Amino acid sequence: MKTEFKYLTGFGCEFSSEDERCPGALPVGQNNPQKCPYGLYAEQLSGTAFTAPRSRNKRSWFYRIRPSVVHRPFAPIGRDTRLVYEWDATPQTPNQVRQLVDDHPLDDRSNLLFCSQLRWKPFDVPTRQAVEVDFVDGLHTICGAGDFRARQGVAIHVYLCNASMRDRALYNADGDFLIVPQLGALVITTEFGKILCEPNEICVIQQGMRFNVTVFGPSRGYILEVFDDHFQLPELGPIGANGLANPRDFQTPVAVYEDRETDYEIVCKYHGKLYVARQRHSPFDVVAWHGNYVPYKYDLAKFMVVNTVSFDHCDPSIFTVLTCPSTKAGTAAADFVIFPPRWSVQEHTFRPPYYHRNCMSEFMGLIKGQYEAKEDSFHPGGASLHSIMTPHGPDTRCFDTASNCELKPERVADGTQAFMFETSYSLAITEWAAKLCNKLDDDYYRCWEGLKKHFNPYRKSL
Ligand SMILES: [Fe+2]
Repeated sequence: MKTEFKYLTGFGCEFSSEDERCPGALPVGQNNPQKCPYGLYAEQLSGTAFTAPRSRNKRSWFYRIRPSVVHRPFAPIGRDTRLVYEWDATPQTPNQVRQLVDDHPLDDRSNLLFCSQLRWKPFDVPTRQAVEVDFVDGLHTICGAGDFRARQGVAIHVYLCNASMRDRALYNADGDFLIVPQLGALVITTEFGKILCEPNEICVIQQGMRFNVTVFGPSRGYILEVFDDHFQLPELGPIGANGLANPRDFQTPVAVYEDRETDYEIVCKYHGKLYVARQRHSPFDVVAWHGNYVPYKYDLAKFMVVNTVSFDHCDPSIFTVLTCPSTKAGTAAADFVIFPPRWSVQEHTFRPPYYHRNCMSEFMGLIKGQYEAKEDSFHPGGASLHSIMTPHGPDTRCFDTASNCELKPERVADGTQAFMFETSYSLAITEWAAKLCNKLDDDYYRCWEGLKKHFNPYRKSL
């Protein structure tokens, strides 16, 4: 049985795969023959409108033991979930910390409003001794904006789990998931085959694709969900044909089917709610497939970093791995951006990230190591959010050190992988992220309190 990966050779290309136990399962010369080989059913999964331009059109054909339509009716999942999309449920403010109402004491959390600039300590992962939590039950929404009904917007979640999904599959009818494991490897079984995704790799599971997640202990990671479109590689412009994330490094699974008759749960996220349907067989019964609408993974260590070799900074868009476009030219609904190990060589330059205010929202996470702009207080498994036009930048210690150190070529971010979900949407924080998770760093704003006035009108050079 094949379980190795096949390399994607480019977005928009056509791929095919069949389980080697059934050679010739893939029909030749047509998609939907009167009778498929081995008595299989043909089924199309459309990822774009039928009439989308050829360069953007995405669909795949499955050849499977039963069509997906064979299941009992869906019903609400019937238990509490932290997966929420109610952006108006709580007030939002532009503060650096949770704002107090009427100067209530900080420990009176019931009176706290939400804010736009936050940092979270590492989110708690359920332990083996606690109740078993699988990937679906471990989904917690942090923030988001927009509307899956109008197909515009994003949501940012974390998954915090310690158990594998047993005879249970999830599909997202609302959008695409970009999954960033931080703690623990995932084996993601899809209709296309299996994907092993370890920390420092990412996996994209697109709208409608059914998947099951196996974990090997406490597991934590981040998820960027997009409603507007699918992820694609950014344009390279003057960079040329090579650089950033190269198409050849994206991998998609080979077909592997299971012919298993058992009680199986299909969980569907539809209009932001979870529904469950039961069926008497495994949904991972695809013997062969072909198409260009596929799940894929990418190893972040393969990212080719481009940056200045003279002075000043390029904008962080040079670190974009994948982008989901909006309807505005050149403006992403969301970008997935990384800050990988690299050389820093700029001359007469303040090298850390510059102080700035952005018309986009910036959610950052840390997979491993120490982020160079905030070495002491931003930890793997934690996160930060700098909302639209909210100022931010290096902390006091970073500023003082980088302003006075001798500049020479040096390695930065070795052993580190920070990332950013950057979106043009204005993100609202959920109640869980603002209060219930109990991981907010109330002292975040203090990291800039030590920034002193250095201005001296009588002395140009300090
Ligand atoms: Fe920023």
